[in-house]
Amino acid sequence: MKVSVIGAGNVGATCAEVMAHHELVKEIVLLDIKENFAEGKALDIWETSAINMYDTRINGSTNDYSRTANSEVVVITSGLPRKPGMSRDDLISTNAKIVKSVTEQVVRHSPNSIIIIVSNPLDVMTYCAYINSKFPSKRVFGMAGILDTGRYKAFLAEELNVSPKDIQAVLMGGHGDTMVPLPRYTTIGGIPVTELISEDKLNAIIDRTKKGGGEIVNLLGTSAWYAPGSAAAQMVEAIVRDQKRVFPVCAWLNGEYGLKDIFLGVPVILGKNGIEKIIELKLNDEETKLLKESAKAVKEVMNVLDNLKD
Ligand code: LAC
Repeated sequence: MKVSVIGAGNVGATCAEVMAHHELVKEIVLLDIKENFAEGKALDIWETSAINMYDTRINGSTNDYSRTANSEVVVITSGLPRKPGMSRDDLISTNAKIVKSVTEQVVRHSPNSIIIIVSNPLDVMTYCAYINSKFPSKRVFGMAGILDTGRYKAFLAEELNVSPKDIQAVLMGGHGDTMVPLPRYTTIGGIPVTELISEDKLNAIIDRTKKGGGEIVNLLGTSAWYAPGSAAAQMVEAIVRDQKRVFPVCAWLNGEYGLKDIFLGVPVILGKNGIEKIIELKLNDEETKLLKESAKAVKEVMNVLDNLKD
């Protein structure tokens, strides 16, 4: 089995490294437009194989998509990252051009692949890959929910002094400040989170989660990579091992939650066919209102993309 990662920057390289370390597939191809960059990263990662004890081969390529041919899954991380003061949406025109041309190459060489988008602005770049790939929507989706719930769980684990492994949570909506963490669907070892934390503290954690990407940008001067790369690798694992895992994923909605023709974070079952099912939770009025607001914000940026095409 073969997985390709397009973009050998920090996120792409981390994703490849995590997948190799977990021996998810026989071969990983890391591709970048910058001369020798993917080759260098791939070689460095491959040189950890005897140390970290895995067999997965990692090969780098400078923009030769024939090397990615017949990949089962392709992770697209290409595009510019944010700088301090930028919103994810500021990246739209530059990254849309990049994601479109990458998607065309991916489709040509791996016509049966599943595409996972990591480029920002996430929801809209997923839409961009979807319309340019012409793949069914169960085979084109975006990574954001695992990252955002990962941050939410990390902050809760720290506050409650419990293992992050014991936290279960659902987070919906766009990958931006309008994302919708759902305390009603958050449990600690099966115990509703609201029984263990004050409302004020929980609200502060929700707020920090929404701005979690920006917090890293402010600290580092560029966007995050360990958590985004690991989150994308976890999605690949669910697919190549047909795990039927339940994750929030940026998926194309066709009437679910009363929303249509939009990419938005919702809980899904991920397996060998990609999105095997979108799970429809019963949201209360407040949660529905927040989800609709998030959908509106994403739709506005989708419209910017549609107008760019003209
Ligand atoms: C983040 C970027 C990758 O949330 O969107 O860190």
